[in-house]
Amino acid sequence: MKNLVEELTNKQNLNDNDLKYLLETDIYDEELYKAADTVRRENYGDSVYIRGLIEFTNYCKNDCYYCGIRKSNDNSDRYRLSREDILKCCENGYALDYRTFVLQGGEDPYYNDDLICDIVSGIHMLYPDCAITLSIGEKSYESYKRYFDAGAKRFLLRHETADNEHYAKLHPESMSLDNRKRCLFDLKNIGYQVGSGFMVGSPYQTTENLIADLRFLQELMPDMIGIGPYINHKDTPFASEKNGTLELTLRFVSILRLMFPYALIPATTALGTISPNGRELGLKCGANVVMPNLSPVETRKKYDLYENKICTGEEAAECRGCLERRVEFAGYRIVTNIGDVKKHA
Ligand code: SAM
Ligand code: FES
Repeated sequence: MKNLVEELTNKQNLNDNDLKYLLETDIYDEELYKAADTVRRENYGDSVYIRGLIEFTNYCKNDCYYCGIRKSNDNSDRYRLSREDILKCCENGYALDYRTFVLQGGEDPYYNDDLICDIVSGIHMLYPDCAITLSIGEKSYESYKRYFDAGAKRFLLRHETADNEHYAKLHPESMSLDNRKRCLFDLKNIGYQVGSGFMVGSPYQTTENLIADLRFLQELMPDMIGIGPYINHKDTPFASEKNGTLELTLRFVSILRLMFPYALIPATTALGTISPNGRELGLKCGANVVMPNLSPVETRKKYDLYENKICTGEEAAECRGCLERRVEFAGYRIVTNIGDVKKHA
């Protein structure tokens, strides 16, 4: 019988039948984790990159069925950070050795292109040795180009699911997978380092959907791939759905590492939320990035995409120290440089 882990490691690919088998069985898990760790060490040694996450608004004009800050959630306590608030987060972060700032938020029209560019160029001017990442959703080519010219060189936009029918079960009609994909290719064409990804175990997701996600990622070849388990939020239409599992997410992280050896793969907050040592396990299965929270403590609980989100009560310095210990305990080392992606094969 052929060994699927060996084949995946050597070819960085498998046919759909073999991928389906690998995704649905746990018999290869230990071998997968080990192979993924070997490949991550070949490419990145024991380095773990840190990115300071600034959740700057929880207003959102979209109504994704899974998300706790969707516009129809009247129970959400909305907030916005000012340009000064954001610069203060960066100042704190810089003192804690962060060299990448990730500005993430709902799709909030209050932050028009002028304001985003003003914030980005402000950070760029004060911290020219830092990378600025945006994660602010779907925009036009022209808007993305303006942010890039202002100094943002990385962008995170998960495709969420690469299957049209599944996409329509997770989003209202006003949103489309085609536009999401258009955005991702625009970002790449402009020259951004691009991150994509999806939730593992989102409602209605099938193994075939997950295979479609892998095929889409092979087409896009993103620099970063962020996956985390889907987690319920009581104020969404999916309130009574099941959460994604630790097991499948870890299996998927390992498969991603073997298919995309060069990629930046975060051990996500959602992984740390479904299991107390989820992020450490993610690192051991091939992940090489962590994104501690730099948002002001007063607003953290309000950015509740899903229930029981971790790190909502800690100061930035506590989160930084906590993750440093966790990373070391898992057998890796936080590096504080800008942490660019390695060249694609
Ligand atoms: N508005 C930006 C966007 O659409 O890319 C960034 C913010 S959005 C809330 C960030 C990510 O959170 C989404 O891409 C989604 O995958 C994830 N997310 C939202 N709700 C979630 C849930 N219930 N469980 C796990 N992840 C969730
Ligand atoms: Fe935030 Fe542990 S990483 S408190």
